[in-house]
Amino acid sequence: MVKLTFVQADGTQIETEASSGMSVMQAAVNAGVDDIAAECGGACACGTCHCVLTQDWFDRVAAPETDEVDMLEFVIDPQPTSRLSCQVVVTENMHGIVITVPATQV
Ligand code: FES
Repeated sequence: MVKLTFVQADGTQIETEASSGMSVMQAAVNAGVDDIAAECGGACACGTCHCVLTQDWFDRVAAPETDEVDMLEFVIDPQPTSRLSCQVVVTENMHGIVITVPATQV
C-alpha cells in the first residue's frame, strides 16, 4: 500500500493508503476528500479532480498525457504543477506523496 496525504483547501489533511494501479482520484474519493468531485468518473473530461503537487513530486510521477494537458487548460487557476488526479496512477515510488486540493475546487 502507498501512503498518500491530501491537503484540503481549509488546511485539513486526510491521510490514506492506496493500492498501486488505482488513480489518485479514486483514492481521494475513497478517503472522503470532498473537494475532489470527479464528476466525469475519471474520463479526463471535467477537470473537477484538479490537484496540485509540489515540484519534487510533480517531477517524480509519470508525466501527463496530451489529453490531460489539454483539459488542464480549462481548470480554474492552473499551476505549473497541476494534475488531474484521475490521470495520476498510484505507484510504489509515490509513498508519502502530498497532494494539495486547490481552493478553486471548493
Ligand atoms: S474526474 Fe473528470 S477529469 Fe478527472
